[in-house]
Amino acid sequence: MRRIDTSDLTLEPQLAAHAEMMFAKLSDPAIYEYENAPPVSLEWLRTRYTKLESRRSADGREQWLNWVVRLLGGHGSGELIGYVQATVRADGSALIAYEFASAYWGRGLASQAVTAMLAELASHYQMREFWALLKRKNNRSMRLLERLGFALASSEQHVTFATHIDEALMHRRAAQP
Ligand SMILES: CC(C)(COP(=O)(O)OP(=O)(O)OC[C@H]1O[C@@H](n2cnc3c(N)ncnc32)[C@H](O)[C@@H]1OP(=O)(O)O)[C@@H](O)C(=O)NCCC(=O)NCCS
Repeated sequence: MRRIDTSDLTLEPQLAAHAEMMFAKLSDPAIYEYENAPPVSLEWLRTRYTKLESRRSADGREQWLNWVVRLLGGHGSGELIGYVQATVRADGSALIAYEFASAYWGRGLASQAVTAMLAELASHYQMREFWALLKRKNNRSMRLLERLGFALASSEQHVTFATHIDEALMHRRAAQP
């Protein structure tokens, strides 16, 4: 996994050493309005990040890529503001997800981070299709995906992914090189 730089952000391959700063950011209840829950403890998050350093699913069939996102500060360092992740499959498709602390919403930073990850997935991992699964009520996430060129998947694709009735499956093809 490589570090990815954008104009305002650095995406760093996620390590257990990031757990402490991420625990503070991921404890923001606004992140979980539609799904998931905050990490139960710092120890829990550190253990999870340690396992994820394998970058693989337990059966070895998928690559699990996680980058923490750092907002560049004035002197080349800055705060962690969230993360982006991709489940990379051998068939050239990747399922993406992302979470950012609410203090950083509304500035286009999540879009910038996800755009950079999609470019990396296409160029370095040869991914041709991107998928995202979200709660239908999660308008912010829906807007982000639409802005990045995702569209609602077909009803057949919803069935294939076994999506729940309150979820939307979004799809985008990678740009041709
Ligand atoms: C989903 C989530 C990442 C969206 O964050 P966000 O900051 O709204 O997303 P973006 O980075 O695309 O920013 C868009 C906003 O920035 C504004 N913006 C400012 N400058 C911008 C720029 N240069 N480019 C794009 N948008 C910009 C947009 O107008 C928009 O504001 P609005 O929502 O008031 O219309 C965030 O809400 C989140 O982390 N939610 C909790 C976790 C979650 O739901 N994850 C998704 C599960 S599928």
